[in-house]
Amino acid sequence: MNIVLGVGGGIAAYKAALLLRLFTENGHSVTVIPTAAALRFVGEPTWSALSGKPVHSDVWTAVEQVPHVRLGQQADLLVIAPATADLLARAAAGLADDLLTNTLLTARCPVVFAPAMHTEMWEHPATQANVETLIARGAHVIPPASGRLTGADTGPGRLPEPETIYEVCRHQLEHSGSPRGPQAAPRPDPEGDYSGWRVLVTAGGTREPLDPVRFLGNRSSGKQGYAVAARAAARGAQVRLISANVALPDPPGVQVETVETALELQAAVQAAVGWADLVVMAAAVADYRPATYAQSKMKKSHAPGHEDAAPTIDLVRNPDILAGLVTARGTAATPVIVGFAAETGEPGTSVLQLGAEKLARKGCDLLVVNEVGVDKTFGQDENTVHILRRNGQPQVDAGPAGKEDIAQTILDVARTVLG
Ligand code: PMT
Repeated sequence: MNIVLGVGGGIAAYKAALLLRLFTENGHSVTVIPTAAALRFVGEPTWSALSGKPVHSDVWTAVEQVPHVRLGQQADLLVIAPATADLLARAAAGLADDLLTNTLLTARCPVVFAPAMHTEMWEHPATQANVETLIARGAHVIPPASGRLTGADTGPGRLPEPETIYEVCRHQLEHSGSPRGPQAAPRPDPEGDYSGWRVLVTAGGTREPLDPVRFLGNRSSGKQGYAVAARAAARGAQVRLISANVALPDPPGVQVETVETALELQAAVQAAVGWADLVVMAAAVADYRPATYAQSKMKKSHAPGHEDAAPTIDLVRNPDILAGLVTARGTAATPVIVGFAAETGEPGTSVLQLGAEKLARKGCDLLVVNEVGVDKTFGQDENTVHILRRNGQPQVDAGPAGKEDIAQTILDVARTVLG
């Protein structure tokens, strides 16, 4: 694929060299367009050596090839990392004062921005308004990570790790041509109480492959998450649903995107979260995945004396997507974040106690606690939930009731948090 990597003038420009490496090692052809400011951090020889291509920042070099039009038109994906506050502002305003901003205007492919800047700059209403504008035009903005910034200070504003940016881009490349992709947004009901709100829902259960035929998974059917998405759309919201391994029809009026693994779900959520006012994490996400993937089917041992031998499967932890969303949001008011807790209870500890501990740990605004078991909640048409709120507000109980009714109650409570 033809990738254009735009590099803004921020200290995190050096991380874009690692991102460039990830693209080339995965067989992509990358043209790097640094801004003039970016070249003060990382020089032209680094970009051209790593990409194997000439590198320019202005529109006055190799004019006979009309690069300011050609690069954008031929790109399969345009990613800007780091996207500085200045670059976001120029992109939002539609300026075309260097090669990168010209290319942004001519590109018709998916565009991914990975902002990086100081927390104050990121949270400034001007920057947030520019991000809103870019998202409304169809760009994907990966929320900055939280952590150590250039100086001794910490907070949201760090460039996400190159692997995270790469995964979001890979996801965009795989899904951008799909009729179920982001362009298929339906028109919401203008009369409902969710009219004007944008709701992102995850549903189903992730599968973590061991080999081409086996995976680690869970019993989620997606019914509860699909019911939330369907009811939100019926109440006037624009709804995006990220669906992991669900065998249900698409809810009417909902834009559906499919994923398989926790890492794919994370990439899809990160690509969409900047768009959302409310995120409902109903998906059952695997906490662990196999450390290695066998390219061909794992075979039983037939060696004499080893017929009973069984392999040991090493696992590695998956990222906690929900906790990551809360951290990335920082002190911002939106998106409102709703987590779910599927609990079986433990000797001496009730489902509600476990839920309260999880709410404190994850830091989301609401936690929908449901008791699960082999024949309980998972895959059933009914559910019983306790919706826990922060700041000591009383919990809201619902059910036993159909999952559509439970979805209504969850949306009623979330609506009060949205304001
Ligand atoms: O799909 P159904 O058959 O209708 O069943 C509905 C349901 C039981 C799956 C649903 O109501 C539910 O409880 N979903 C969350 C299940 C779950 O993964 O719970 P958890 O306690 O492991 O995770 C807590 C929260 O963190 C969840 O919001 C989950 O999406 C999120 N999470 C978990 C792990 C991880 N690595 N990243 C996450 O974001």
